[in-house]
Amino acid sequence: MAAVSNFGDEIKADRKYSEFSAWHYVNFPADKDYKDVEPSEYGDLVIGINKCIEIITSEVSSKEDKAFYLKFLVHLIGDLHQPMHIGRLEDKGGNDIQLQWFGRGSNLHRVWDSNMIDDYGMSFTELSNSLPKISKQEVKQIQKGDIYVWIEETQEITNEVYDSVEVGEKLGYQYSYRWWNTVENQLLKGGIRLAAMLNDIFK
Ligand code: ADE
Ligand code: ZN
Repeated sequence: MAAVSNFGDEIKADRKYSEFSAWHYVNFPADKDYKDVEPSEYGDLVIGINKCIEIITSEVSSKEDKAFYLKFLVHLIGDLHQPMHIGRLEDKGGNDIQLQWFGRGSNLHRVWDSNMIDDYGMSFTELSNSLPKISKQEVKQIQKGDIYVWIEETQEITNEVYDSVEVGEKLGYQYSYRWWNTVENQLLKGGIRLAAMLNDIFK
């Protein structure tokens, strides 16, 4: 599963798949719920996740389609937990908030998508092995709700993340130290909720 988890990003390099590019995120105002706003005509994370589930569970979809959308679903449940993927439209989920990351140009989206995780210096296997160990009750608690509830929860973090920086700020160890717990927790919740979703789909 780890080997396919980045599939959704890999296909971005191929224009053949451009129709899926808006599925990775959903942008809406900080004080609104997803269900209060008109969905984007290009699709969004919710539309993408629901489409994946529809195709995977349909009796008429091909084996190839089921494999494609299953790989995509694994990716999208991860994206749902990255705060900058539940972002603000006006700055493209932090992409337009330019910052310095260890002395190099970056932006708030990239700090959360890759800089913090890459510079933590663990392989993905090491990282997943080092995530906090939690009880069965905690797993159950985390799995409660649905994608709309999970998006609301991520959005609360998004709002704090937007408040955590000034445009042009020089970020480094201190920022990572402040937020690493959140990064780990979001990775953990993403995995545990993906498991719940797959259990439900293949029950
Ligand atoms: N483009 C526009 N909004 C975006 C977001 N939240 N994440 C990634 N790319 C985007
Ligand atoms: Zn993505």
